Amino acid sequence: MAKIIIEGGRRLRGTVRIGGAKNAVLPILAASLLASSGTSQIEDIPNLIDADVMMETVASLGAAVKRIGTTARINARHLVTAEPPYELVRRMRASFVVAGPLLARYGEAAIALPGGCNIGQRPVDLHIKGFEAMGAVSSLENGCVRLRAPKGGLTGARIYLDVPSVGATQNIMMAATLAHGQTIIENAAKEPENVDLANYLNKMGARVRGAGTDTIRIDGVTELQGATHNVIPDRIEAGTFLIAAAVMGDGVYVENAMSDHIMSVIAKLEEAGAQIEDDVTGIRIYPANTRLRALDVKTHYYPAYPTDLQAQMVACLSVGLGTSTVTETVFENRFMHVAELRRMGANIAVEGRTAIIEGVSELSGAEVHATDLRAGAALVIAGLVADGETEIYNVHHLDRGYDNIVGKLQALGARIRRDESELGVAGSLTGAAG
Ligand code: UD1
Repeated sequence: MAKIIIEGGRRLRGTVRIGGAKNAVLPILAASLLASSGTSQIEDIPNLIDADVMMETVASLGAAVKRIGTTARINARHLVTAEPPYELVRRMRASFVVAGPLLARYGEAAIALPGGCNIGQRPVDLHIKGFEAMGAVSSLENGCVRLRAPKGGLTGARIYLDVPSVGATQNIMMAATLAHGQTIIENAAKEPENVDLANYLNKMGARVRGAGTDTIRIDGVTELQGATHNVIPDRIEAGTFLIAAAVMGDGVYVENAMSDHIMSVIAKLEEAGAQIEDDVTGIRIYPANTRLRALDVKTHYYPAYPTDLQAQMVACLSVGLGTSTVTETVFENRFMHVAELRRMGANIAVEGRTAIIEGVSELSGAEVHATDLRAGAALVIAGLVADGETEIYNVHHLDRGYDNIVGKLQALGARIRRDESELGVAGSLTGAAG
């Protein structure tokens, strides 16, 4: 198990380039299973464990998958099974997103239920309700969700999502592309990654309208072909670097970041005192003249402030001026980074779903554990700020969602390195949020 070692206190300066969005790549790789002819070419795939797991999952179902650098070529003409191996599915919750394509294309899917999760309950009931509304039958057998489409295939339906679940919207949208007639998803998730998925599906020949709004309409077609698609930049990676630069930067350019996708984050950092300018190729950020001002932040579904940038903001505000509050409304157990930040000297209390942060003038380096992907990013930010040395264990969580975070921060001038020899405590990969 590797660990990351940071000597804090160095200001960040220069340019960092943002890669393709993990949360767009995963459903797009899964969607490539829908093509009964042609080869898909997916470009700007980040070098992440989660992307590797999804490519292995797609290959395990019979697709030919070849990755060269940041491009993957996928031919899914011959699928051989509708049951991805448990060994792969248990490693990543998002694997469940192959259910929709398999059901549409293969007529069935058998996916091990996503395992225990460390950021709270993460059910898949809305995915299954959606499939059932289109005529599928589901059962739970030996820890596996088994789904079967009727003989003639799925039929379009009007589906209202109780919450605008990102994954359920993706799964239903993909299943609907090959269903008979029209499917309408109401209260759909509006995240940019879902718009990117819809764009890829439409390039494959699907008829998806309204992605990015509350209502998505999908007119089923009889078949889809492979298509070439360039994945959107990762707004969470961009936001993580912006937050780091707001607190420890000295003029950082976040290249390939799309400001339209992180307006809520930019607004909050400006409110705290950072100066931000965007242009067509990225976002430039200068720190505040003094310590960042306190903020009240509430996570919610897009376009509100994203839950995947909550932990990083808590770390940043822990050295802000005054009392901040950060309220998490999307997941019920997503404050595990708080205990670790406290070990570094942060003054944070958690009441229900709200973290109350009394800004301190400095943090001090400590040994800390990443409990999930974004908590790990928060500890990296805290380590950059802290006085002295911080050692972060369980960094495999970071490898799931940050492509070369250590190298990128080194290039910005941080004193950060990775030690591969560490016999640290291995955490579970299962179900960690992204
Ligand atoms: C996706 C993202 C994740 C992000 C999350 C919220 C990927 C791979 N992951 O996860 O990084 O943190 O969106 O922005 O894209 N829910 C139900 N029933 C369901 C499904 C979800 O009740 O069937 C609830 C969940 O418990 C949660 C909320 O809906 O409270 C949002 O979850 P959802 O949007 O589905 O998150 P994911 O797609 O798992």
